[in-house]
Amino acid sequence: MVMALEQELKLLGFVGSLRKDSYNRGLMRAAMQLLPQNVTLEVFEIREIPPFDQDFERNPPEVVKQMKGKIRAADAILFVSPEYNYSIPGVLKNAIDWASRPFSDNAWDGKPVAVMSASSGKLGGARMQYHLRQSFVFLNMHPVNRPEFMLANAGNYFDGKGNLTDGDISNRIVEMINSLIDWTKRLKTHQIQA
Ligand code: FNR
Repeated sequence: MVMALEQELKLLGFVGSLRKDSYNRGLMRAAMQLLPQNVTLEVFEIREIPPFDQDFERNPPEVVKQMKGKIRAADAILFVSPEYNYSIPGVLKNAIDWASRPFSDNAWDGKPVAVMSASSGKLGGARMQYHLRQSFVFLNMHPVNRPEFMLANAGNYFDGKGNLTDGDISNRIVEMINSLIDWTKRLKTHQIQA
């Protein structure tokens, strides 16, 4: 069972694959259907974000301004991404880089974050997750440590359109969302007391 919340909590999601029938987008869609009351999950689409150019970091394209505004307004972030060549897909890293700049205006600063990954490989995107975690240090994001969510051999759990078909995986998504909510509430309480 998902937990109830008194105050509305806003999650902002990013999918690291642009593929139409992406397993990772399927996980994100499933997460959107499994939310508890008083929790929203909006996905920010990264397809239109141009390649990062530091010459424009102080006056970024409109889509980047929008993304930074949405990140700032969110209580927590959810990344759902495949692993490309043992690392973070370029489109996702590019979005992360834009929103982190300029250094004094890092939109990710202090945000709780959870990561899920699905891969056709045997490690389920673990190496990508550890590269993200490395970036979280410099970004000053606060990742959920447990549970870990790495879905190996992802093709076994989705239909041809990238829709999740496995109830056990749905339960694991619920656990992850609950953990992110709990972590976000704990950090908020700490911030209020500090
Ligand atoms: C992959 N894939 C992959 N899988 C993996 O487990 N480790 C890896 O390093 C890579 N590398 C990689 C690079 C590139 C450029 C592509 C396109 C793919 C396979 C990947 O897990 C598979 O294509 C997934 O289906 C991608 O996720 P989506 O698009 O289904 O969400």
